[in-house]
Amino acid sequence: MNIRTLVEADLDTIIALLGNQSINTATVDRFKQYLETGAYRHEWTWVAERDGAIIALAVWWGMEQFDHPLSIDGLYLATDEDPVPVWTELIRHTLATFPAGAEQPEYHIFLPNGWRDQPEIVAAQEPRLAAAAAAGLSETTERLRYEWRPEYGLPARSTRLRFEPADDEAFLDVFRRVIQGSLDAATARAVARVGVDGAAKEDLEIYLSMPGERSWWRLAYDAAGALVGFALPSANNGGPVVGYLGVLAEHRGKGYSDDLLAEITQLLVETGAEQIRADTDLTNKPMAASFERQGYRNFAVRLVATHPLN
Ligand SMILES: CC(C)(COP(=O)(O)OP(=O)(O)OC[C@H]1O[C@@H](n2cnc3c(N)ncnc32)[C@H](O)[C@@H]1OP(=O)(O)O)[C@@H](O)C(=O)NCCC(=O)NCCS
Repeated sequence: MNIRTLVEADLDTIIALLGNQSINTATVDRFKQYLETGAYRHEWTWVAERDGAIIALAVWWGMEQFDHPLSIDGLYLATDEDPVPVWTELIRHTLATFPAGAEQPEYHIFLPNGWRDQPEIVAAQEPRLAAAAAAGLSETTERLRYEWRPEYGLPARSTRLRFEPADDEAFLDVFRRVIQGSLDAATARAVARVGVDGAAKEDLEIYLSMPGERSWWRLAYDAAGALVGFALPSANNGGPVVGYLGVLAEHRGKGYSDDLLAEITQLLVETGAEQIRADTDLTNKPMAASFERQGYRNFAVRLVATHPLN
């Protein structure tokens, strides 16, 4: 078996494989469009071939400004063999291109609610996660995907918090402080890898690099003038997203997450948003409850496989 990255002559075979989408995120249209924008690349698209024929494909997605991809967007098989060994090798080859010590990429699988009761989805999911685990992405987190639309009702603006823009230093400080006691798995992994300061810096870099406007970010103060938390509306390539919000540990338990989420929703609607998306870990129960209270609806699940030390 030979493993290599995509060349122009492979394209017809690749397009045929992409046509069988299964639970993969990549589609033929997305592939063509993202090859143009740099979110998919020849050097991020890996094929396994045997006797000169392509037997499997791994498509990776990344941000235009980065040298390495961020996540797997699809695993495909052209034969009827056990896919796990070949997918494992494909993933290993990509991971080997990452410099030592670099943050490892992830595998995101988008699934409908109730997927565990759908045997064909379970059958598609199991070998993919098994291959990811064998290649090192062995920790999985389930995230709930939420969506807001105007017909779900606009949550009312807070009457007890005041919102103000602030500079990057102030946001770095508040990111550092909300990490304390966070129920978010990615935050816990980031802290284990680079410490609280490092995780806060990474958060700042990530949100600055997103297509949302920096001018939308707000710090939140209570009536006594105390800093309570922050609201960070944003956007990704798919459109407006909640981005990030946090309540300082000493102010938790007063439902302030609702006020922050309402502010984010209102700010995004002011920019013309007609659909807002957000994710939160299944284990982040207070956040999920806040989404439900503020009119967001859980429409799907995102399974994330990561390296245990990511
Ligand atoms: C998630 C978060 C915003 C919730 O804020 P909040 O305003 O305290 O939420 P609520 O007041 O609705 O809390 C509901 C209950 O959960 C508890 N709770 C809230 N956050 C908690 C946490 N991190 N750990 C344990 N319990 C928590 C509250 O004490 C309250 O308990 P009670 O019902 O017994 O009084 C806050 O925990 C936080 O900032 N976490 C870190 C950042 C984060 O996860 N952001 C969301 C990612 S998009």
